Amino acid sequence: MKVAVIGTGYVGLTTAVSLAMHGHEILGIDLVAAKIAQLRQGKSPIYEPGLEEALTQMLEQGNLQFSTEIKDASEAEMMFICVGTPEASDGSADLSYLLAAVSDVASLQQPSSGKRVIVIKSTVPVGTGDRIAEQLRGNDSLYVASNPEFLREGSAMQDALNPSRIVIGADHEAAFAAMEQLYKGVNAAKVTTTRANAEFIKYASNAFLATKISFMNELARLSTVLGTDITTVAQGMGLDSRIGPEFLRAGVGYGGSCFPKDTIALLQLAGQHGISLSILDKVRDVNTTQPAWFLERLEEQLHGVAGKKIAVLGLAFKPDTDDIREAPSLKMLEALQKKGASIAAYDPIASAIVEAQFPNVEYVKHPSAAFKGAHAAMLITEWKECVQLDWKEIKASMAAPILFDGRNAWPGDLLKDAGFAYTGVGRS
Ligand code: UDX
Repeated sequence: MKVAVIGTGYVGLTTAVSLAMHGHEILGIDLVAAKIAQLRQGKSPIYEPGLEEALTQMLEQGNLQFSTEIKDASEAEMMFICVGTPEASDGSADLSYLLAAVSDVASLQQPSSGKRVIVIKSTVPVGTGDRIAEQLRGNDSLYVASNPEFLREGSAMQDALNPSRIVIGADHEAAFAAMEQLYKGVNAAKVTTTRANAEFIKYASNAFLATKISFMNELARLSTVLGTDITTVAQGMGLDSRIGPEFLRAGVGYGGSCFPKDTIALLQLAGQHGISLSILDKVRDVNTTQPAWFLERLEEQLHGVAGKKIAVLGLAFKPDTDDIREAPSLKMLEALQKKGASIAAYDPIASAIVEAQFPNVEYVKHPSAAFKGAHAAMLITEWKECVQLDWKEIKASMAAPILFDGRNAWPGDLLKDAGFAYTGVGRS
């Protein structure tokens, strides 16, 4: 099928490349000329494992092209809208890019097939697709579908090629048929429903996953006092298929471009309708205070961090990405600096981006360099480079062998046996 993807950010680019890999003819569109020039040369503006290789391959095969001009997409039967819906000042989703893209599509001439489906992949408040369809009413060649994405950064290509499920919201047989044809050959459960339900599924899924994490983080606080081990508790809980083993990892909190933004947007939406989502409110509270709670444990142990050197391992909001949006590391660096600590930080790829915000931190090129002379080390992002370490060398190089594992990813028991003072999140 001929498909245009408007917006070549993280979601748009991954969608464009994966649809090209499924054999469709794809045109990626973005207003930013420099980005399009870069993409045409097979260079990905974001770091995502496997993305650049697949991009190059698809460009070579000729079923992926890029343009700054929407008019180049006049033959596209499907128009994926993948533009950002950033957080507005009141927490709601800012739809200005989305609405501009829809109006660009509406002004295009009809494709020779006579019909076109506008597919909204951007995360939008429930009811947005219906409102857009209402605005386009009278244009018989345009249909509107909602098709939310569930991609995780760091494994986005894998998730796009083998999705957990495909959710399609529409109100016309022609739109469902086009979407069916598009995803023919993708082996995943499909939910076909209304646009509003599809939009709600996306927000509800992210809110639920965020809830699982904050629930475990709050239990981890209790676990610390009880002297129990939250990782073992999570393991035992996860064996119950009604609970499931995923997203039960306690840590220093969730970050990224989705959970923080989507939870506040859902709270905003609920508020507009006079509904209080009190659980979700608490989920956000726990997440906001989790880095400070963990830092307090460190301060207790060190009797304050002023004048001490702290090693910070991992800065990206999760491994395998250079994304630092809402990363817990930023809160940690800010608090540590405010309290007078000196910091040596390591991240395999995100250091340069963090440096722009925190120029007074020492950024080292190798994880072991961060530990040198440190009075304590904290793991914030569980990159394999930050986990698979030569602990013997590290112990000899630290000023004090104190480890604070903010992701419960270091081998606690082994480290204690090796003479380290080890503290995890909800496990001592
Ligand atoms: C998330 C959703 O998983 C994805 O379906 C949606 O499309 C976008 O938002 P992403 O933000 O890329 O994806 O990463 P994810 O793996 O979900 O992790 C989000 C954050 O939660 C990270 O900071 C991670 O460290 C944290 N997390 C995750 C935990 O603290 N504990 C867990 O058990 C799982």
